[in-house]
Amino acid sequence: MPTSPLADLAQQTADLLSTISALSTLDALRDAEASLTGKRSILASLQKSLGTLDPEARKAAGAQLQEARRVVEAALEERRALLRRDARQLSLEADRLDLGDVIASDVRWPLAVGHPGLIALTQRELEDVFIGMGFTVADGPEVESDWYNFEALNIPPAHPARGLWDTFYVDLGEPETVVLRTHTSPTQIHLMERAVATDSLPIHSVMPGRCFRRDTPDASHLYSFHQIEGLVVDRGISFGDLAGVIETFTRAYFGPDISSRLRPGYFPFTEPSAEFEVTCTICRGAGCRTCSSSGWLELGGCGMLDPAVLEAVGIDGDQWSGFAFGFGIDRCAQMRHEVSDMRALIENDVRFLGQFS
Ligand code: PHE
Repeated sequence: MPTSPLADLAQQTADLLSTISALSTLDALRDAEASLTGKRSILASLQKSLGTLDPEARKAAGAQLQEARRVVEAALEERRALLRRDARQLSLEADRLDLGDVIASDVRWPLAVGHPGLIALTQRELEDVFIGMGFTVADGPEVESDWYNFEALNIPPAHPARGLWDTFYVDLGEPETVVLRTHTSPTQIHLMERAVATDSLPIHSVMPGRCFRRDTPDASHLYSFHQIEGLVVDRGISFGDLAGVIETFTRAYFGPDISSRLRPGYFPFTEPSAEFEVTCTICRGAGCRTCSSSGWLELGGCGMLDPAVLEAVGIDGDQWSGFAFGFGIDRCAQMRHEVSDMRALIENDVRFLGQFS
């Protein structure tokens, strides 16, 4: 009787299993798969050799071989699953970013740290100067009724001076017209009303904030800009006090070689009124294109509180007097940092912003 073709099956199966357990990568497993269970595998050639057996023995050997194949294929799948898990683990580890290492190393952090913009910085600097001079800082609404923005400031409806302010109207309806404030002067009215209501005069305050005018933006105008308003209401205040405050502020903010001058002007809410100018910061007074050769740049307006304004808020003009001033925060930033085009202030170009960190 010839020896069964499956005489060595147990050993052969054990060899296949140990080959499988020695496979260390998915690639190696894929390469070995055909020779382990495919058409050219030992299992396939054993299958062929069963053809020489008689039907009875072939059936028994077939079942035996089937079982061996099942064991080998199961081992192969198990190995594949294990290698997949390992491969995934390796790739996770390779992708892991150790932030501790990055921070400790000399690698330049690719993210820039943010900082306040030029307008906010300038506003803070201006506030600091006025706080140093004994002023408090107050806030007011950006949307105002016609009464606060105009009427209480001695600018009645249809008054020709309204043309000085190109106004954005929010609501033309009854009972009142509502506007985007064209200047910070309406905050004066809020402050004085509050002081009267709480019996807390005198007032020494500055009020920075955003204003709006129907301007077409160009190199020196924006439809939205910022002003800082100053208001003093006290006993025995004179025009000399106003001029002194303006001059002290100018030197403190722009430096000792820049001074101020007041020229007659007109505002409905101050009497007398003045335009407030400072030495041209470009040519330091020598005369240049920016200042039209005058050596001076206009910064804002000012004046003694008009009695009509005091009356509108119920302050006794026989006991109290005061002055107000208002000027552009954007304009200060422009002058101090020689920004040639105001539009740079609102464009948010990081190359511009980054210069003021
Ligand atoms: N509100 C005025 C303007 O915007 C400036 C100003 C303020 C003038 C206070 C006098 C007193 O043009």
